[in-house]
Amino acid sequence: MPELADLNDLDVFVEGVPHDTFTYWREHDPVHWTEEPGGRGYWSLFDYESVTAANRDASTFSSEEGGTLIRDLEPDQLEMNRMIMLNMDPPKHTRYRLLVSKGFSPKHIRALEAAIDEQATKIVDAVIERGECDFVTELAAELPLQVIADIMGVPQADRHLLFEWSNRMVGADDPEYQTDTGTDPAEAAGNAQMELFAYASALAQDRLANPQDDVISSIVHAEIDGDRLTEMEVNVFFLLLAVAGNETTRNLTAHGMQALFDHPGERAKLQADLDGRLAPAIEEMLRWGVPVLNFRRSVMKDVVLGGKEIPAGDKVALWYMSANRDAKVFADPFTFDIGRSPNDHVTFGGRGPHFCLGANLARAELRAIFREILSRMPDLQPTAPPARLRSNFINGVKHMPVEFTPGPRVGGVAT
Ligand code: HEM
Repeated sequence: MPELADLNDLDVFVEGVPHDTFTYWREHDPVHWTEEPGGRGYWSLFDYESVTAANRDASTFSSEEGGTLIRDLEPDQLEMNRMIMLNMDPPKHTRYRLLVSKGFSPKHIRALEAAIDEQATKIVDAVIERGECDFVTELAAELPLQVIADIMGVPQADRHLLFEWSNRMVGADDPEYQTDTGTDPAEAAGNAQMELFAYASALAQDRLANPQDDVISSIVHAEIDGDRLTEMEVNVFFLLLAVAGNETTRNLTAHGMQALFDHPGERAKLQADLDGRLAPAIEEMLRWGVPVLNFRRSVMKDVVLGGKEIPAGDKVALWYMSANRDAKVFADPFTFDIGRSPNDHVTFGGRGPHFCLGANLARAELRAIFREILSRMPDLQPTAPPARLRSNFINGVKHMPVEFTPGPRVGGVAT
């Protein structure tokens, strides 16, 4: 038996993903009762079958009852979180999702693709002459930030505010992002949230008077059951799109690159035929990297899952990373295979009503940035180990110093 990691210990995740622990539980007790210091404990779902079963059955496994974070929230925080559609159940969830889904449809994303490709070119231009950079902040973070700013209607000059706020919210347990020294992580995250809300309110006021072709304009002019959204509802919509759209894609880009560093044979195959192999390679990076390690659900009625009787009122954690390494579904799950087919990973969720709204957008961004990086920086290599985020929720990489042979700019002046 391997030494098993405590999945509540955030320092464990600074060292890396505890794959040995996931594998042990997946094979020995895939629906496993997990003690929680200071909390009431939860069922960890480690295998593909139980994760997808819980993800699909939203009436038994609620996102709304207790929110989607493992930790139980104070009542006022829970009430606010429930205004975010990620933390709503159907049919209410369906009405809110419809308000923004058009902006993320395959047709809409296809229309954005040329602009995304151009932005990726400029991002590589901004560092290519230097021969070294921080892969995370200068290459991986930029494209999702620029794209989500455009989609939402945030001026490009303000996009770094989004970066800073989402780091401070998602990374509140990480010392690097605790800019409010002396405040506890929840309070520090709350302060970043208040700043983001003030910004969102001002932008919403502007778009009420001057509607434009952006998501914030659609949200402020939309009606649910004949009513406009309240200021707080608009603010939390903004928060969801700002955070969901950039932390995740940034981290996947970093994990995807790390996987290529660690598997030079697969990297060589990919670089030899980028056009032919990039799309399946990105699916494998998604299966491998898993930026969102888990989401929580609350059990609404007694249910049997993986042979365990789970009573109504308990909470469960869906460990997506573990499900993606389930040998019952993926042959040789610990082999990174850029041609893997089929590759039905659960990195964007397990096909339930909350299936990632931005999946098509994320894929377009990943294709664009990897095409640029791998064709223009073919010898890109790390110069130091990556610095990981202190979190058991987001599988985050904060910094990854790299070097490469300098090359020429090709896309004009970087923004
Ligand atoms: C590699 C990048 C990404 C990953 C790994 C990811 C992952 C996820 C996951 C796991 C969920 C929850 C699924 C579930 O509960 O079934 C989700 C939901 C969501 N994602 Fe993503 N995401 C990514 C990129 C994006 C992007 C670029 C956006 C753009 C705004 C986005 C917006 C959302 C939204 C709005 C939801 C909530 C959907 C709902 O509640 O109906 N995501 N994402």
